[in-house]
Amino acid sequence: GQTEVGGRTELLGEGRTTERRPSKVAIVGAGVVGSTLAYACLLRGAAREVVLFDQNRAKVEAEALDIAHGIQFTPMGTVAGSDDVAICADADVVIITAGAKQRPGQSRLDLAGATIDIMRDLLPQLVDVAPRATYVMVANPVDVVTYAGLKISGLPENQFFGSGTVLDTSRLRYLVARECGVAVQNVHAYVAGEHGDSEIPLWSSAMIGAVPLLQWGQTVDGGLLDEAVRGRIAAEVVESAYRIISGKGATNYAIGLAVVRIIEAVLRDEHRVLSVSSLLEDYLEISDVCLSVPSVVAQDGVGRRLVPVVTEVERSGLQRSAESVRAVIKRFGF
Ligand code: 2OP
Repeated sequence: GQTEVGGRTELLGEGRTTERRPSKVAIVGAGVVGSTLAYACLLRGAAREVVLFDQNRAKVEAEALDIAHGIQFTPMGTVAGSDDVAICADADVVIITAGAKQRPGQSRLDLAGATIDIMRDLLPQLVDVAPRATYVMVANPVDVVTYAGLKISGLPENQFFGSGTVLDTSRLRYLVARECGVAVQNVHAYVAGEHGDSEIPLWSSAMIGAVPLLQWGQTVDGGLLDEAVRGRIAAEVVESAYRIISGKGATNYAIGLAVVRIIEAVLRDEHRVLSVSSLLEDYLEISDVCLSVPSVVAQDGVGRRLVPVVTEVERSGLQRSAESVRAVIKRFGF
């Protein structure tokens, strides 16, 4: 039958009535990250309507058109691009990828000033057209820009968070899975702290299947997952982006998929535990800074922050990470 829901007509199966699930995703920035994210969103059928917004009209229209031509081969969806912010109107989720570009040799923190300036211009316009959306910051340095963006936007803290270390967590799981010869989906380990050089893998709470990671035993090459191997893995996680940027100029595929995961958690009200970056208050003695910790993500955005068992080394590492992010925030007057 046909049902009128939320002012729209939806075609539903025999005798079914259901509330229309929110599914408009607005992606700000049609660079390599924004465009890949739009593509990944449609491939996975994460959203019914994907819109791209960028000041470069030719570029944003071309990216949207290129993706639109593939819609026949994806689950149902639409994609459109514009240089007019109105295209983001009433989005359920707004993802911000627009920001300064990291050059080989630059750290993410080097981009803070330029990206914050972009946010001062963009956020008031976006909040004006999409005041109820959940906002996810992806632009770097993501923790600094999430904090600045939260203050600039004036939105409630649950409604505005960053992609944080969701990507670093998936890099960590990939490396541990390879080392241990298990599926990446069975590695439950999180990277917390800054999405950047000071991040911390939370080894002591990590599990592989039903076994605490620290008690795993032999790896596939007959060695142990000892401190040296864990240190090598942690360093490789931090080095990943530098390596990819020096080889191809940017990272885009894994971040695209990681952000689709976050979008799905919000649109489907999943209550997924994801290491997103959000405003922390009295979390292991850390306050007034945006940082990634395992957090519950659902329709109303970021909720409960989980406090895992941590060693003294992990706790002080997280605190140092918080200090390094806060130092940058302060430098820009926040
Ligand atoms: C990444 O980690 C550069 O932040 C980006 O891939």
